[in-house]
Parts: sequence; structure tokens; C-alpha cells
Amino acid sequence: MQIITNNELETKQLAVKIAGYLKPSMTILLEGQLGAGKTAFTKGIAKGLGIQRIIKSPTYTLIREYTEGRLPLYHMDLYRLEHAENEDLGLEEYFYGKGVSVVEWGSFMKEELPKDYLMIRFNVLNDSGKRELIIEAHGEPYQEILKELKQ
Ligand SMILES: Nc1ncnc2c1ncn2[C@@H]1O[C@H](COP(=O)(O)OP(=O)(O)OP(=O)(O)O)[C@@H](O)[C@H]1O
Ligand SMILES: [Mg+2]
Repeated sequence: MQIITNNELETKQLAVKIAGYLKPSMTILLEGQLGAGKTAFTKGIAKGLGIQRIIKSPTYTLIREYTEGRLPLYHMDLYRLEHAENEDLGLEEYFYGKGVSVVEWGSFMKEELPKDYLMIRFNVLNDSGKRELIIEAHGEPYQEILKELKQ
């Protein structure tokens, strides 16, 4: 599925909508270059889950946990792992826990990613704010979300 957003607000609005369909232990992988909009999207997920706290990019912490919403949100940014040996990060407890995991730069983690997930690829179309979002569902529960989005 392909969606064009024209600005940050539209990306957040899409994320708010997706947040409404999320269930415990679901994972969203976000891919795309620096500044593509992955964190902006995560802010929309947080808003949709009813999280009021300001979402900061967890670049120096790997993971931030927000527990005051409809579901806990685990926001991971694995960018720092690019040059690291990453063996056992112990992230399974998040992926298979009560909350929703949103992962920036998941491709930098070689192991441990769940088998099923929603993958969103961000392509920067121009400097003025146009982004192409390619959404892919891996696994039945995620295909349901895509179906809902298409309606
Ligand atoms: N359509 C759009 N969707 C999302 N963000 C947009 C859009 N158009 C412009 N922007 C701007 O692009 C920037 C996206 O920054 P953001 O931190 O979300 O990127 P990122 O993908 O998380 O980057 P990084 O890999 O560095 O974490 C913001 O400054 C935002 O205002
Ligand atoms: Mg980011």
C-alpha cells in the first residue's frame, strides 16, 4: 500500500489512525533516511494511544517506554547499532510484551526481530515535505490493519 503525505501533520494523522488498530505485542518497523519522518510518525502513534508525554527520539538510549496510554509504547531507535556487535539485546520482552513496539532503523539489528510486523518505508520526495510511505503487512493481524486502512 502506498500513501503520500504532504507534511508532518498528515504523517501524524495517518499514525493516529493506525494506532487505533494496534493490539498488545504488535510491532511497527520504520525504515527511511535521516529526517524522513520516522520519529514524526511515532509521535502520531503515541497521540493515538493517548500518550500526552512529549516523544523524544531515543537516539542515545536505544529505547523509551511510555506507559500512560491505552497500550504501553516502546519506542526504539537502533541507529547506533550500525557499527556495533549486537548479540543479545534482550528486546524480546518488549516485542512480546503488553505494549506496542515502534522501531526506527530495525534493519541495524540482525537478530530478534519478530516474524510478523507492519513495515513502513519512508521515501523523501521533495524538500518541501512530500513523503511516500510504503506500508507492508507481514502476518495475518497486520493484513487486517491494511484492510481497515484501505477502506
Ligand atoms: N510529510 C512529512 N512527514 C513527516 N515529517 C515531515 C514531512 N514533511 C516534512 N517533515 C519534516 O521532516 C522531519 C522528520 O524528522 P524525524 O525526526 O521524524 O525523522 P526521522 O526519520 O526520525 O530521522 P532519524 O533517522 O534521524 O531519526 C521533521 O522536521 C518534519 O517536520
Ligand atoms: Mg528518528
